[in-house]
Amino acid sequence: MDPGIDDALALYAALARLDVRGLATVAGNVELDRTFENGRQLLQLAGRQEVPVWPGSRSPLHFSLHTAPEIHGPHGMGAREFAEPASGQALKEAPWQAWPALWARESEPVHLIATGPMTNVAKLLWCLPDAAKPLTGITVMGGAIEGGNVTPTAEFNFYVDPEAADVVLAAPVPVSMVGLDVTWKARMPWSDVHRLAGWGAVGRLLADALGWYGRHGEAETTGLAVHDAVAVAAYAHPEWFTWEPMTLSVRADGQWRGTVVRVPARIPDRGPVQVAVDVETGPVLEWIMESVANLAQGLGS
Ligand code: BDR
Ligand code: CA
Repeated sequence: MDPGIDDALALYAALARLDVRGLATVAGNVELDRTFENGRQLLQLAGRQEVPVWPGSRSPLHFSLHTAPEIHGPHGMGAREFAEPASGQALKEAPWQAWPALWARESEPVHLIATGPMTNVAKLLWCLPDAAKPLTGITVMGGAIEGGNVTPTAEFNFYVDPEAADVVLAAPVPVSMVGLDVTWKARMPWSDVHRLAGWGAVGRLLADALGWYGRHGEAETTGLAVHDAVAVAAYAHPEWFTWEPMTLSVRADGQWRGTVVRVPARIPDRGPVQVAVDVETGPVLEWIMESVANLAQGLGS
């Protein structure tokens, strides 16, 4: 992930509900040094410093980095500046170098949830000698069948590194794409943002950051598109989503950079991706809020 405000919410939902084995950071919403530090700070705030954090790609495969400080703040967490650097371990190895060896020792299957530009995941797929083991699948927050948030047709994570996104959509493991088609539907109401503020340090950080994230534009009236947290919910509760299999590619050229296109299903080495095309917003949003509540309660705050 590239924390990032909705990444923070996604991380906290995942910590509350899943067995999180590690966090690979990537440059995206802000530069890598910040996303790496933010990942460590978020874990520290949740008392989960045992979760390893890896620094990943500093820039996309071929494009130069495009960031979004106007959406996520100059340091990626709204107006928040962490006073002290995070304590705890700071791993130096890149995730695509570290993970194959780690996974070789795993007895449990591993699933990736990618909520930033796909650069790390593409490199990992290239590094895994036998990509199918033990990686059982990848859930991607990115792309859109219709509409974009950077250009009229491109979503941010796919726009930043379209070539990496294309590698991931052709991965030799099951891939689920949770794009703007559903994340724009499941908008968090402001009443939930205000509730978060009462839930200890984790809740306060989220409420402040989300308040900053939604301060302009349509979020003021429609609520906040918490994209990355919706992707975690889609992994945990696929039954709340409508899925359609589609064979897809991502364009990298000119005005189409980051645009998802449907390609003929018979293209070799490219299986269908399960695309989330609709969502039951009520259960998803309740689940996200309940996750943060559980996490905050566990912290005794
Ligand atoms: C995606 O872009 C980023 O700004 C968000 O964190 C999310 O991953 C939404 O387009
Ligand atoms: Ca993100």
